[in-house]
Amino acid sequence: MEISGKVAIVTGAASGAGRALALGLASRGSSGVVVCDIDGEGAAKVATEIEAAGGRALAMAADVTRESDVQALVARTEERFGPAGLFFSNAGIIVAGGEEASDDAWSKIWAVNVHSHVYVARAILPGMLARGEGYLVITASAAGLLTQLGSAPYAVTKHAAVAFAEWLSITYGDRGIRVSALCPQAFSSNLMATSRREAGAGALPDTEAGGGSAQAAVDGVLTSEQVAECSS
Ligand SMILES: NC(=O)c1ccc[n+]([C@@H]2O[C@H](COP(=O)([O-])OP(=O)(O)OC[C@H]3O[C@@H](n4cnc5c(N)ncnc54)[C@H](O)[C@@H]3O)[C@@H](O)[C@H]2O)c1
Repeated sequence: MEISGKVAIVTGAASGAGRALALGLASRGSSGVVVCDIDGEGAAKVATEIEAAGGRALAMAADVTRESDVQALVARTEERFGPAGLFFSNAGIIVAGGEEASDDAWSKIWAVNVHSHVYVARAILPGMLARGEGYLVITASAAGLLTQLGSAPYAVTKHAAVAFAEWLSITYGDRGIRVSALCPQAFSSNLMATSRREAGAGALPDTEAGGGSAQAAVDGVLTSEQVAECSS
């Protein structure tokens, strides 16, 4: 991916893979990194880190499940840095359980892990298509190719995220738009804590969405930085 001189937007960038992506894009010559998160304070800290290292950054507090926030994110980026050539739609959460998981939990994870990417596509693609170029990366998960032990909602929504990325790629590929689905296995981040904050403690009881540790023990756990390095 060509990063130098490109404006990049990263959602879920206050923490984990999004934070590592934002810092990595800045250090690799992005002309402006927009650090977006529902946690505005966390986003501001990452933007400050980028600027302290000599990069250009803008922190934006936005909830990717609200279309108006996503539209404002793209508009504000253009005002500040010009059009974004790279968009990392990375924010995501996990909730535990199977078919018995509450309707609220299913709705919440659907909104964050799937519908947010629809809002992103509506906001970013018209400009990219007009310019004849652009790169959209959707963070899915290995759970979107395989499954997630202990969490049907995570497995289902990540499969849907992969499906949407594939559809966009096939539909817009010959008009200069590149779309990738990022599908990592376990990596260290704050996913459990931020998911409890966003979906409610009851949606992700005690340890984690059962089975996660066992999977990680088998295949190992990457760092967020390693994941970011492979994503761009
Ligand atoms: N950690 C893993 O093992 C793993 C594995 C595969 C895929 N993923 C995916 O990687 C992505 C990043 O997660 P992470 O592991 O770095 O977790 P993380 O919790 O450290 O970071 C996710 C960020 O998303 C933000 N966020 C949550 N809901 C939001 C919303 N509605 N609007 C805007 N921001 C919101 C959170 O505040 C948080 O800062 C997610 O899509 C996750 O599903 C994680």
